[in-house]
Amino acid sequence: MLDQYGRRIRDLRVSVTDRCNLRCVYCMPADGISFRPAAELMQDDELVSLIRIGAEVGVEKVRLTGGEPTVRANLVDIVREIAAMPGIRDVSMTTNAVLLGRLAEPLARAGLRRVNVSLDTLDPTQFARITRGGRLQDVLDGLAAAERAGLRPIKLNAVVVRNFNDHAVVDLAALSIDHDWDVRFIEMMPFGTVGDFAEAGVINSEETMARIEAALGPLAPVDLSGEDPARTYRLPNAKGKVGFISPVSEPFCAKCGRLRLTMDGKLRLCLLRDDEEDLLTPLRRGESYEQVKERFRAAAFRRPFGHALAKRLYPHQRVMIQIGG
Ligand code: 5AD
Ligand code: SF4
Repeated sequence: MLDQYGRRIRDLRVSVTDRCNLRCVYCMPADGISFRPAAELMQDDELVSLIRIGAEVGVEKVRLTGGEPTVRANLVDIVREIAAMPGIRDVSMTTNAVLLGRLAEPLARAGLRRVNVSLDTLDPTQFARITRGGRLQDVLDGLAAAERAGLRPIKLNAVVVRNFNDHAVVDLAALSIDHDWDVRFIEMMPFGTVGDFAEAGVINSEETMARIEAALGPLAPVDLSGEDPARTYRLPNAKGKVGFISPVSEPFCAKCGRLRLTMDGKLRLCLLRDDEEDLLTPLRRGESYEQVKERFRAAAFRRPFGHALAKRLYPHQRVMIQIGG
């Protein structure tokens, strides 16, 4: 499946819920968001149907996101169905790991291959502040469970926020020395209602890299090809890698092969654009499977070059928790 710019689309990120058991400062506003009514959300069978349509038109990799995907009921069954679909060769999940202590094993057995764990600091007090009340130990337990369950490779994602965790990046990067993990630092993106906050607190990858190198030594390039949104490096004698994802300072639209399905059944064509194609409503209206598939294909084709953060054109309809990272 190619889009109008010739970019191949293989990746579908599926938001399975807009709920979360944490409330990260860059992901939702302080006064919360209003959750969508249950009737507007994809039911299990609808979610599976829309993913199956994606697989039939060329999606090969599915990543589950949220909100926090592990708070969705029946997640294990959903994963089992996705993993069994012809054409799907990779099922992964972005998670805060809080519930992985009990879910890692059943998810792995159902066919989940790997997880990206969001972790912004190794300091419990800082963690509570950035997640507005989370317990760091839950995440560390979840991470250990993910390793035991064989979910590999393990990637850690840290959003770097000025005055929250700008110095924590050194301890996080150091995790890659003894663990075969990918520790990745993400520039915070300004979104909807967290736009002003994020704009004030962005730390670019260059600054993060400099801080890590000053403390831990030179970062040797591993993969700067741009095939993966993260540019990866290795610290001296490290087992794992350190990566930088720079949506603000170095847009990677040209190589983007992603589509998103929101929890209310809309195909979001670009993370940074509010351009969406509603698939759930036609499905519920009784359109045929083939017709919905045609909508999917046509929407994927018109996928834009969406990045306009530098021009301060931010998406407004949704904040991150309503899109999925
Ligand atoms: N900027 C960048 N990344 C974000 N995430 C959430 N909000 C933002 C933001 N404003 C990402 C985090 C988290 C995932 C669920 O979404 O990396 O790991
Ligand atoms: Fe929840 Fe992840 Fe958003 Fe934090 S970043 S509030 S853990 S969805």
